[in-house]
Amino acid sequence: MNSSESKPESVTSQKKNIVVLISGSGSNLQAFIEAQKNSGFNGSIKAVISNKEDVYGLERAKQANIPAICIPHKEYSTRERFDLALANAINQYSPDLIILAGFMRILTPDFVKNYKGKLLNIHPSLLPKYPGLHTHRKAIENGDKLHGTTVHFVTEELDGGPLVGQGSTVIQANDSEESLNKRIQTLEHKLYPYIAKLFLSGAISLNEDVVYFENKQLEQVISI
Ligand code: GAR
Repeated sequence: MNSSESKPESVTSQKKNIVVLISGSGSNLQAFIEAQKNSGFNGSIKAVISNKEDVYGLERAKQANIPAICIPHKEYSTRERFDLALANAINQYSPDLIILAGFMRILTPDFVKNYKGKLLNIHPSLLPKYPGLHTHRKAIENGDKLHGTTVHFVTEELDGGPLVGQGSTVIQANDSEESLNKRIQTLEHKLYPYIAKLFLSGAISLNEDVVYFENKQLEQVISI
């Protein structure tokens, strides 16, 4: 009997812990709620935390029987205090992966450093183009041919960490911010759980701000 055969079933099939941070509707969270039902997805969402009350994402968590926690940032006098409360809540669940899914708060450098390598974000543009807000508007106004969404590891730089995966769509002449947003979100719901699945299986990792894919430096972002 080799060493993996001798491990009890409960150890070998242990799913990794995921905490999802949201600020809004949580359609990406929903994509993860669906993804975790697949046996090939080696993670389980242990908690959903929002910095805003009354957002639909918290309702989605409750409906899926996932602890839904609200930590209103307005109740904290500084970013540091809020991030400390956030970290305390997150740490209850010993996360292997923290998913930022429409979490619209800038995190402090200490927070980011603490979770580096297990903190992923999705941003609605083809980074490094258009960090920040109103990405669809900017892409249309600049006459871009292509637009998309990016999953990246989070570092101290806003929307600036090492890129992992991207999905793109051609901008049509009659596209509005709304129509583009709809297509981008459809891409996000495929891309984000896919990249997370690779991370949870150990295929993707971050070392010294460099992304590795199957132990080799990732040369090109993973495209869907
Ligand atoms: C997503 O489109 C995500 O890319 C964006 O917020 C939306 C959240 O939607 N994130 C950012 O802009 C981060 N800079 P959701 O709440 O329906 O998942």
